[in-house]
Amino acid sequence: MTEGLNHIKKELEILRNSILEHDYAYYVLADPTIPDAEYDRLLQKLKKLEGENPQLVTEDSPTQRVGISPVEEFAEINHLVPMLSLDNAFHEQDLINFDTRITERLQKLGKVKENIEYVAEPKLDGAAVSLRYIDGSLALAATRGNGNSGEDITHNVRTIASVPLRLRGENPPKLLEVRGEVFMPKDGFIRYNKLALLNGEKPFMNPRNAAAGSLRQLDPSVTANRPLEIFFYGMGQFDGFERPDTHSGVLELLYSFGLKICPDWQIVVSVSDCLKYYNFMEKKRESLPYEIDGIVFKTNSILKQELMGSSSRAPRWAIAHKFPAQEELTIVESIDFQVGRTGALTPVARLKPVFVGGANVSNATLHNIDELVRKDVRIGDTVIIRRAGDVIPEVVKIVKQSSTKRGKKIDLPKRCPICKSEVVRIEGEAAARCVGGLICDAQRKESIYHFSSRNALDIEGLGIKLIQQLVDNKLVNNPADIYQLTVEQLSKLERMGKKSAENIVKNIEKSKATSFGRFLYALGIREVGEVTAQSIAAHYETLENLMGEEGKDLCEVPDIGPIVAKNIQDFFANPRNQKMVYKLLDAGIHWSKSRSIKPKRTELTGKTVVLTGSLSSMTRDEAKQNLHQMGAKVTNNVSKSSDLVIVGDNPGSKAEKAKNLGIKIISESAWLDLFNK
Ligand code: IVH
Repeated sequence: MTEGLNHIKKELEILRNSILEHDYAYYVLADPTIPDAEYDRLLQKLKKLEGENPQLVTEDSPTQRVGISPVEEFAEINHLVPMLSLDNAFHEQDLINFDTRITERLQKLGKVKENIEYVAEPKLDGAAVSLRYIDGSLALAATRGNGNSGEDITHNVRTIASVPLRLRGENPPKLLEVRGEVFMPKDGFIRYNKLALLNGEKPFMNPRNAAAGSLRQLDPSVTANRPLEIFFYGMGQFDGFERPDTHSGVLELLYSFGLKICPDWQIVVSVSDCLKYYNFMEKKRESLPYEIDGIVFKTNSILKQELMGSSSRAPRWAIAHKFPAQEELTIVESIDFQVGRTGALTPVARLKPVFVGGANVSNATLHNIDELVRKDVRIGDTVIIRRAGDVIPEVVKIVKQSSTKRGKKIDLPKRCPICKSEVVRIEGEAAARCVGGLICDAQRKESIYHFSSRNALDIEGLGIKLIQQLVDNKLVNNPADIYQLTVEQLSKLERMGKKSAENIVKNIEKSKATSFGRFLYALGIREVGEVTAQSIAAHYETLENLMGEEGKDLCEVPDIGPIVAKNIQDFFANPRNQKMVYKLLDAGIHWSKSRSIKPKRTELTGKTVVLTGSLSSMTRDEAKQNLHQMGAKVTNNVSKSSDLVIVGDNPGSKAEKAKNLGIKIISESAWLDLFNK
């Protein structure tokens, strides 16, 4: 090789290593070391240099993730060590029996005196894969298949950014067969399905199908566009290093090779700790960024694993403790349309009650008329119902039964089921709406409920049940009427004693002292959420300004576009709304100017901030107020457009997500330092 070529080879090596290090920091540690633009420059430089010297391109170069041409078929690959399955535990007792089996057997062998130590890992809901690294470079990737052999999906697995094409370290092992789960994170799944629907393609049923389907593509450029991730959880064949003597040691070793491990694994001792971890993760399940369907418990000592051995199907030293199913089958008994605060009609399936996701479910939403048409749900259909955590149960899809005669197609009603006003569809909107406005009892009730809700005027005790009674008894027609209620009127209502009535009147009185932002939010103007209401309040300072001449320039307020501006102007132009606003002010609703003072210019001005975890110095609402005063916009969810995440104690998945997205995270005290500057 010439001197010049040698020099280029060295330069390529340095560039590749540097990119691989950045990939590792970004994808595995979730702690990026350089800005995206700088990374792109390095990659471009490498591409250019490789383009000029094609003979120096290596298979594990970061430019070689997506192969050029699709494969014609999937070749068969024999696993060097079989990929076993896991036995399941569905009840606590199954887990206790599992622990007893191991303890008794090892006791017989004289190998155990105390409680067994296990590694607890989330059971990831994706597709199992086996990867083979030879001399540190990714050589093969295969599906589980029948356990002994699977399909060659190397071309697709190479496209997953968190799969290293080369293992880290100076002395990579001669051979490493490594096992893991490819999955589609929840946010990627939602994003992907939205896009699929927009493009008229079929969405995936769940993240598991999405992962498995994405891996079974002949064309790797298709897989490359799917948001896939991987967590590794075990080893097959290996050569060139000493095997750790615990499973936790194996996980740490894999991690040191640059292989991504699920961050939520833990060592637990005794079966009662296993159950504690199971319960803890079940609560955390909804907020995790990836789907899990249970917990895998693995005996930590490799020696004990070997003593326990395996059947041909599954190891005796591990078990999968499954969570209750989140999807079940049931029958649709009827379909109603519910009317919400803004008149939107939501189709709701009334069901034969079914136990799903840990609760009895008899209603499930169909979201909107388009969803109902797309899913074509009819009375009498057998459907899959999904209830995940606190999310409203939904109809996933119908189960086709060709033999049975189906009910009639459900059409959008022409008239509102509550007030019989016309139902219209506005172009570009998913919802069909009742045009009845406050004539419609349903909208009336929901808007009064919104007015009194916690983040609006916060009238404690004035819940939806009470509001329904008040409206049905014609005691309240709109939010302003709340302030005319007397103890006498209230105590005549069902299930209402004098004491409760007095308390409610007291709470109504208390709600009169509020803030301009809360008041605006409480009015329930279409698309004016808390954040928008706060921005408007900070900008205009007074209601007179907003309702007067100045209010015409609403688009000047940060984050307000022409549609929201029009909604606000239409609201205040309506004489009925004007009357209600003045009636509310006459009733004594007030706010001090100081609470809606123009924000100070600070380091956070114009920044989008997310709060997570419990704060020790103030309530969440106070923190929001303070952030608004610093000129920041506070949102609930972390996304690419977030600028900063403030973390209190026990932060959940939001902090994790921020870390993954490379968004700045600061502690509560660091934020207070900024605030008190
Ligand atoms: S260990 C010999 N660990 O569950 C042990 N499997 O039912 C084999 N899975 O095919 C598997 N998360 O796809 C293991 N942390 C985890 C897992 C896990 C998900 C899947 C894997 C396997 C299936 C077995």
